[in-house]
Amino acid sequence: MTAPPSSPEQRSGARKHVHRASDDQAPAPLSARLGLARAVDAKDPSTRRHSERVADLSWAIAGALGWKTERRRLLHEAAIVHDVGKIAIPDQILFKPAKLTNGEYETVKDHSRIGAEMLEGVLTVEQVAWVRSHHEWWAGGGYPDGLVGEQIPDGARVIAVADAWDAITSWRPYGTPRSVEQAIAECRAHMGTQFWAPVVIALEQVIRDAP
Ligand SMILES: [Fe+2]
Repeated sequence: MTAPPSSPEQRSGARKHVHRASDDQAPAPLSARLGLARAVDAKDPSTRRHSERVADLSWAIAGALGWKTERRRLLHEAAIVHDVGKIAIPDQILFKPAKLTNGEYETVKDHSRIGAEMLEGVLTVEQVAWVRSHHEWWAGGGYPDGLVGEQIPDGARVIAVADAWDAITSWRPYGTPRSVEQAIAECRAHMGTQFWAPVVIALEQVIRDAP
């Protein structure tokens, strides 16, 4: 197995575009929340800083969607801890170097529900719902609740696309990062099924407007 890249420069060109997507600076997270996010990401060296990137990209996408600053800030707060439930998933399942059994996959899927429970009373009810629903699919078939369309909270729709973009453009043990064009094509391919189309269009705007 190849060692994970140790610096942003070793990662994909697509990543650089996201980081420089806007002069509109994402808020600095409170240190406790940032520590929690890094604790999650530290479980897997290949996803280093994933949570922070997803939060910053969610912020940028919400801006392109016309969200007001206060709600964007709330979304950034939630997005940075969107995978906090992974702390409760056994590492031998989370990092199993082979195909997961159905039961193991169900255990991994539980991270969004567990994360939301962990954040109850810590974040607002709306923010907790965004974390819970970040793996729901626009056309249905996602988890944990199998929501469809408008049932999926808007912030969760944004986090879902930001999360996918970061996964597609990141180094992974099971694949190399895609180019910007490949990554956009992949997100477009899931418009209307996995993703709410306006969020993918907003993502494209953010990426293409990057300096
Ligand atoms: Fe997740």
